[in-house]
Amino acid sequence: MPVTVVVGAQWGDEGKAKVIDLLSKEHGYVVRYQGGHNAGHTVVVGGERYALQLTPSGVFYDHVIPVIGNGVVVDLPTLFAEIDALTARGISCERLRVSSLAHLIFPWHQAHDAIAEAMRGDDKIGTTLKGIGPAYADKARRVGIRAGDVLDPERFAEHVRARALAENKLIAESGGEPVDVDGVVATFRDLGARLVPYVTDTVSLLHDALATGAHVLLEGAQATFLDLDHGTYPYVTSSNPTAGGACAGTGLGPRDIDRIVGITKAYTTRVGSGPFPTELTDDDGDRLVDVGREFGTVTGRRRRAGWLDCVMLRQAVRLNSLTELALTKLDVLDGFDTVKVCTDYRVDGRTLTSYPDRADVLANVEPVYETLEGWGTGLGGVREPANLPAGARALIELVERQVGVPVRVVGVGAERDDYLIWS
Ligand code: GDP
Ligand code: IMO
Ligand code: MG
Repeated sequence: MPVTVVVGAQWGDEGKAKVIDLLSKEHGYVVRYQGGHNAGHTVVVGGERYALQLTPSGVFYDHVIPVIGNGVVVDLPTLFAEIDALTARGISCERLRVSSLAHLIFPWHQAHDAIAEAMRGDDKIGTTLKGIGPAYADKARRVGIRAGDVLDPERFAEHVRARALAENKLIAESGGEPVDVDGVVATFRDLGARLVPYVTDTVSLLHDALATGAHVLLEGAQATFLDLDHGTYPYVTSSNPTAGGACAGTGLGPRDIDRIVGITKAYTTRVGSGPFPTELTDDDGDRLVDVGREFGTVTGRRRRAGWLDCVMLRQAVRLNSLTELALTKLDVLDGFDTVKVCTDYRVDGRTLTSYPDRADVLANVEPVYETLEGWGTGLGGVREPANLPAGARALIELVERQVGVPVRVVGVGAERDDYLIWS
């Protein structure tokens, strides 16, 4: 399996990083392909918790070359803070490579993100305010500045100054706080110089690696239903986390990919605004948040929580060509008397078995649930499928039947080794 994609099958925070950490053992390259520091990817190793925003989650292995692909938008202050923090904890980031084609985020992007959210009022998206949308907008408007531009420091500084002056006019018109142009130019001159040794033609790097038989793991951030095209627009991010985005965001071709792993929790969460059919606003929802520690890795926001939704997962299979699922956080359902799984939706007296193409329809569907007996015992120590309680086994089997792809990995705790191979 030379190229594997890992993609979130819900609204993010499914436990992608933990599965990537597991799969990294058999891959030589781990590549982020979209998003930016809006991502929060957590790996727990021997009680040590690492929350990564930009560094690929394979960084913990000496044999892995972590790559930030061309589809990522890179915030240099965050990248270097992360590299420094990891280095201080004994994790080397020297092998990290950053695509020369990746676009950079600047303080004016964050200013525009805040202005746009404020202007939306009650309709705000609930973005991470990291400047992700405005940075991708500049990429699409063809006015962005890319990582490779730092290789010519004088031109880079001039470009940053010109963009800062132009953006300040727009920020001032919108009533926002203009950026300190000289300060930004000076800061980014230094950050650009620091980026130089990392800047690489990662498209050639990855193709050359494949030609020598290397295995490459493509790390999705965000998730299928936050996808700019296929998510619950406008309550989405500004990139394509779906598996197709892995090609555009790395320069690998569709035929290079042969394994696509969708990550889903055994329930559902969402952070930020937008429709969420199986959302629970009762004690069960509070319990999922408390036991699952469902607070945003990046923003600290409380995540919304609800039951697992197989209609979404069936759509995720279609959109991503998923070959398998990893089902995480099954242990969070320990001790529930009953566990529900949404199998279909009802709307206007009709049953919907497939995911609607309109967010306003999605906002009005009623989930149809199958109710399973819960299990009392803690799943934390289980490492063999045969040792799972009957209720947990029934849930996994129901998901496989409903979604139509096999579940391979099951997560039963946050630690690196808290998982079992189901099939
Ligand atoms: P990502 O963005 O998809 O990488 O996921 P996050 O790191 O944002 O959120 C997942 C959270 O669940 C993290 O705190 C993980 O340490 C934790 N986690 C991952 N898998 C499991 C699991 O199987 N059980 C439990 N209890 N926690 C898990
Ligand atoms: P990982 O990779 C969960 C959400 C935000 C908001 C919307 C748009 O850790 O799963 P943005 O800042 O991207 O413009 O915000 O997307 N969002 C995430 N939710 N996990 C993430 O990343 C997310 N990245 C963005 O909350 O609703
Ligand atoms: Mg996350």
